[in-house]
Order: sequence, then structure tokens, then C-alpha cells
Amino acid sequence: MTRHFLDLSDAGGDAIAAMIADAIDRKAARADYPKGRTDDDAPLAGHVLAMIFEKNSTRTRVSFDMAMRQLGGTALVMDAASTQLGRGESIADTARVLSRMVDAIMIRTDDHSKAEEMAAHASVPVINGLTDRSHPCQIVADLLTVIEHGKALPGLEVAWVGDGNNVLSSILEAAGLMKFNVRAGTPEGYEPDAEFVRIAQAGGATVTLTNDAAEAARNADVIVTDTWVSMGQEHAVGKLAAMAPFQVNEALMAHAKPDAIFLHCLPAHLGDEVTEGVFESAQSAVFDEAENRIHAQKSVLRWVLGQL
Ligand code: CP
Ligand code: NVA
Repeated sequence: MTRHFLDLSDAGGDAIAAMIADAIDRKAARADYPKGRTDDDAPLAGHVLAMIFEKNSTRTRVSFDMAMRQLGGTALVMDAASTQLGRGESIADTARVLSRMVDAIMIRTDDHSKAEEMAAHASVPVINGLTDRSHPCQIVADLLTVIEHGKALPGLEVAWVGDGNNVLSSILEAAGLMKFNVRAGTPEGYEPDAEFVRIAQAGGATVTLTNDAAEAARNADVIVTDTWVSMGQEHAVGKLAAMAPFQVNEALMAHAKPDAIFLHCLPAHLGDEVTEGVFESAQSAVFDEAENRIHAQKSVLRWVLGQL
């Protein structure tokens, strides 16, 4: 059966643990290599990934491309607007055509149902490179970063402060699978997706929802935030004012454990969701997190292609 990776649950906790372990090993094995050099075992030699973008991207685009290069394969980018998709060719036909031409597909789009439609009609793996609903690849990189910083996942206290968005949804999904707890501090009206809260709780995670940023941050091991205005939401009215008390600043970080780390999937908006002081502080792991997109996605690619 074709393995898709539209959400973390498609893989499950054991596979995610295996991806993280694989990422740690492969990252160590090529520590002093130039970034474009192929890993010694080149496990995806001869494989091609097609990447479809209906939204902007820096990290997802470059990290998937570099991941494929390092695994011995190649990637090609399809800017959806300049393909026939942009002229109305169906996702179903696009999926069937690409399945005859490439070995895997990554799609970044708005409506999650488009990624599901692609997966329903593709005979090769489809990977969610971000939708309005979720961002699973980001969270594999985030978990890898947390572990690299010496923190175990079971029992970890993760505080999300800001907008209850697609990235938070995938963190909640991970919490249920990997057994950590989430305290989400959001303004009223911007709480996390209730479906993902239920998924986390069903997996055994403790989820605390609060409209008080300090309460969310108290004794946290990890503080995470993201942009207050996600792609496609540019016209949200009144949102920035509601978000202002949810800025991650030095005073908020002081509520967390002294060795807490700060994560942000990037791109960041300094002075909005995070201050420059926190972003540039020793507690900030945001550039490790960004680099880890490559290492995490190599493992996602190996998993969907049946190598993990
Ligand atoms: N974090 C993330 O997905 O970044 P890009 O939008 O640059 O891909
Ligand atoms: N929540 C953000 C993440 C960007 C990587 C967005 O969807 O725009």
C-alpha cells in the first residue's frame, strides 16, 4: 500500500520515533560533508520528488531539494500557477500523471482536501508540505531539535503562545503520539482546532487551553510560537491587536524553566510574535530547527518510500 504523509498519524508514534533516530544518525554521519554531497549509501539514488507549491516557501522548498540530493535523488519544483493545475486541470489527473513520472510528490497548498485528493489519486507517496490544516514535516524537525537539545519527549511540557494555527495542530497531534503535554495560550477566538485537541487527549496528552500567555509559559520546557498571520489570512481584521498580549518576550520567557528553548518554524516577524531579544538569545534554537528540516525530511522521504 502506498504510504502518504498528510498528517503525523499516517505514520504513527513508532514510525516518527524511527524517523527521528534515523535523522540523528544520518546527520552525524555527514557532519563534515559539503551540503550538496550525497550520503555514502545514497538510499534514494534514481528517485525523483516533484514539489507543488501553491504558497510561498523558503525552508520547505530548499530543504526537500537538499534532502533529495543528499539521499542521492533529485527534486523538481512545480509552481502551481505556471502549470496546468493553474489553468484548471484536475488534481486527480495531475496526481495520475505525476505518478507515472516521479517517485513521490510533495504538495504545499491551502485547503487540506487538495492534498487528500492528490493522495487519493496518486500511486506514489504524497507528502503534506503545509496546508491550512497542518504542517507535519515541520513538527518532525521540531521534535528532532528538542531531542538534540537534551530533552526527552515523554512528559515534556510544551507551551504554544500566539495564534492557534496549522503548526499548533501538528504539535497537538505529535503530543498524543509521542506522549508530551501542550499548554496553548491564545487570545479568545484563536484557540487551536478542537479536532486536534481531541486527538492529543485521546493519545494521552494533557492539553491545557488558556487565554493567559504567562499561564501557558509557566515551567515550560519549550516555548513555541509562529506568525500571527498565516499565509492566506492576510486580510484578517483586528487580529494583530488581539495577539499583542501573546508576544514571546523576555518577561514571558522568564516564566519558563531556566533551560527552556524557544522554537519558531520561521519566517519570523520580530517585534510581533517574538522580540529580537528572545529570537537572538542563547535559548533560541530556531536555526537548528530550520536546518533540521533537511534531516527530518530525509527520514520522512525514506519512510514514505518504505525504507524505514
Ligand atoms: N517553516 C516553513 O515551512 O518555512 P517555509 O514557509 O519557508 O517553507
Ligand atoms: N502558520 C504559517 C506557517 C508558515 C511556515 C503559515 O501557514 O503561513
